[in-house]
Amino acid sequence: MDKAKRKAIIAGNWKMNKTATEAAKLVDELIPAVKDASCEVVICTPYTDLVTAVEKTKGTNIHVGAENVHFEKSGAFTGEISADMLVDLGVEYVIVGHSERRQYFAETDQTVNKRALAALNAGLKVIICVGESLQQREEGVTEELVRMQTKIALRDVTAEQMANVVIAYEPIWAIGTGKTATADQAEEVCAQIRKVIGEVYGEAVAEAVTVQYGGSMNAKNCEELLSKKDVDGGLIGGASLKAPDFAVIVNAASNG
Ligand code: 13P
Repeated sequence: MDKAKRKAIIAGNWKMNKTATEAAKLVDELIPAVKDASCEVVICTPYTDLVTAVEKTKGTNIHVGAENVHFEKSGAFTGEISADMLVDLGVEYVIVGHSERRQYFAETDQTVNKRALAALNAGLKVIICVGESLQQREEGVTEELVRMQTKIALRDVTAEQMANVVIAYEPIWAIGTGKTATADQAEEVCAQIRKVIGEVYGEAVAEAVTVQYGGSMNAKNCEELLSKKDVDGGLIGGASLKAPDFAVIVNAASNG
């Protein structure tokens, strides 16, 4: 299978931005801006914006995701949100293992795996984030680290469930810094991720899985990054908060 046959996915990660009122306005701007996209368009919003986003995007080509999910089904976990709660709202995607969750909220490869499994078992599609710090890159362990993160995150995920898995390669040093990975750096690691998936699940699953790049992807650099053969889409932070910029990226993925 070549890249053209894989599903290109552009997903916005709004992070902790936009009140529900502001979200309504941004979604209203996004709907016409991305309506002709041939790639999949996803917006991952704060929990408090999900109802607004789901309601407003009904009947459009925009899919809605959350930014995290807890791994237990229910119970005494104050402040947490379960996969069933997201499904019941009409949410379709969820991000797990974002580096900000790993860095600031003590998430580990093991909890990322538990969250991914809970989400998949509830019928959600998951975007699993992996990626190295600057120090890890400089120490030359990017490949080993990303292999390990990918393998552990996918433990007990079935080959069938892989149809609902997206992997996002997000080098931590490129997130929110304006310092994008070069297209060749992005391609190298995205190809390594596909290789690991091939080792675990076989060639057909590896060729079908969508691998995104994330980290300062914007309207200017998206075309080059998305032209690479193993970069099937993007996970977009800052640029997803501006409808015109997000639309440029969506259109670049639609043409690629
Ligand atoms: P930026 O696009 O703001 O660098 O964020 C990337 C990211 O973390 C998406 O999940």
